[in-house]
Amino acid sequence: MESQKTSSNSQFVIAPSILSADFACLGKEVQDVLVAGADWIHFDVMDNHYVPNLTIGPLVCEAIRPYAIKDGKPAVIDVHLMIEPVDRIVPDFAKAGANLISFHPEASPHVNRTLNLIRDQGCQAGLVFNPATPLDHLDHTLELIDLVLLMSVNPGFGGQSFIPSTLNKIAQVRARLDHYQAETGRQIRLEVDGGIKVDNIAEVAKAGADTFVAGSAIYGKENYAKVIDAMRAELGKSGRS
Ligand code: DX5
Ligand code: ZN
Repeated sequence: MESQKTSSNSQFVIAPSILSADFACLGKEVQDVLVAGADWIHFDVMDNHYVPNLTIGPLVCEAIRPYAIKDGKPAVIDVHLMIEPVDRIVPDFAKAGANLISFHPEASPHVNRTLNLIRDQGCQAGLVFNPATPLDHLDHTLELIDLVLLMSVNPGFGGQSFIPSTLNKIAQVRARLDHYQAETGRQIRLEVDGGIKVDNIAEVAKAGADTFVAGSAIYGKENYAKVIDAMRAELGKSGRS
């Protein structure tokens, strides 16, 4: 089955993490952030095993699906699995309306099989790298990946500080993805997750990221549109487009 597309009008995608939203009114929180100008909804799944926190699963994904609408069309639900094992739950997320499913390679004994499973379910697939995880898993998987997600904090909690050494890693992945695109014509997104704020988003873009997860920076503020507008203004100054 062909993967669903996650294309956006502009190159840059802002994906608020609902981890920092008010869970007592999640549907409205999803709607509000999309009306405020967000592109995707980032959906953090934690299992108190792979990471020391417990969050939300396919039932909640299904519940928010009708609220994740942008300009009259379904917005991308970008599921970030911080769970081990991975495979059992993938079809449940696909059925619940996920568009993109990313996982940490060290949480799956057969990375290639898990990537194929995600794609067979009609979703796009992503690999996630923790701050100290080397990029070796990209060596044999690029043709099966739609997105590389670099963690700029250790996964498990919102509201942590951006780890500066991520900038170097972003630049390395950017070079690799540009090379791959020049050879194949296929674009793979480069997403960064953790500690992204108005005051560092331009630097992260400049290093080569095109997709930005922000939880506390957006949901921690009263006016979501004001933060998202300020982020886009910073992206405009980054020198990339
Ligand atoms: C961390 C999660 C992130 C987190 C980002 O494990 O994967 O998506 O919610 O939150 P902020 O933007 O607050 O660092
Ligand atoms: Zn995340």
